[in-house]
Amino acid sequence: MTSDERHRLSCRTEPLPGGGLRVLAPAKINLNLLVGPKREDGYHPLDSLVAKVTLFDTIEIRPQEEAGIGFACGGADCGEPARNLAYRAAALLAQGSTQPLPGVHITLEKAIPPGKGLGGGSSDAAAVLHAMNVFWRLRRTAGELMSLAAQLGSDVPLFLGPPACRMTGRGEFIEPLAVAPFFAVLVLPDCQCATPLVYRAFDDAPQPMGRQLDIPLVQRPVAQWRGLLTNQLGPPARRVSPPLAALWDELSAASQIPVYLTGSGSALFLLCDSATEAIAALARLPAAIRPSCRVVQNCAW
Ligand code: C5P
Repeated sequence: MTSDERHRLSCRTEPLPGGGLRVLAPAKINLNLLVGPKREDGYHPLDSLVAKVTLFDTIEIRPQEEAGIGFACGGADCGEPARNLAYRAAALLAQGSTQPLPGVHITLEKAIPPGKGLGGGSSDAAAVLHAMNVFWRLRRTAGELMSLAAQLGSDVPLFLGPPACRMTGRGEFIEPLAVAPFFAVLVLPDCQCATPLVYRAFDDAPQPMGRQLDIPLVQRPVAQWRGLLTNQLGPPARRVSPPLAALWDELSAASQIPVYLTGSGSALFLLCDSATEAIAALARLPAAIRPSCRVVQNCAW
């Protein structure tokens, strides 16, 4: 959907005193993730049902006197600033501008742990594209921003889209998806799964792409469909990270409901229909694992 102007950009932005903006960048979970054998361009065809959830990074954008883009990041290891996807999003947007742009300082506070398949870096990049378009008054259309998003990474476009979507192509085609309200117990293991390694492990034993769910089903209470989900990156992620495989087995044995991997991992999740059910599901997990869990809901935007 790189050039679809029908799309309404979906980001939560509020003004800051002094002419700045604060924007929240949500995490995502892949409810269902189907993957096909590698294409000629090196990417894999995807068909995924994705929902944004209420775990947020916070981005603040403030005017600065000096020209250019200042960047600071805290809350997690953000790597080298110039390689951070949020910084690169602002730089890419600036590149296409013919007018001189006012200096800006971007502060990113991470709450979404990296390397867990929750899309934090991609969400930050989408939030920066959206907010800097407003801040610099660039008037880029939704389609133009979607196209820049796809250049930054396969998971970036979905974060400019609706609260839940069906994502296809290599990630650039986004269709809105109606999903029942849910609560999810997110398990955030210590281990990280590097996405390219998981895809490489998939290529070692490539599988044909599975069949997508009957889409309207996901509007029903989650108890009716949570047993039907698949993540085709699950088996390769288990091979890449034996500690993840062990944890996943331990949680599945303790939990009375299915435990799924999001994206290429390493975060796992359990879907519930209510807060009460989520709290009960959390209480059934081993005590040592509970501190690394968060209860989240679908994001409303
Ligand atoms: O697009 P992005 O840079 O986020 O992708 C990171 C890595 O994930 C790629 O280098 C590739 O190994 C893998 N990938 C893939 N097929 C996709 C999306 C990502 O193989 N559809």
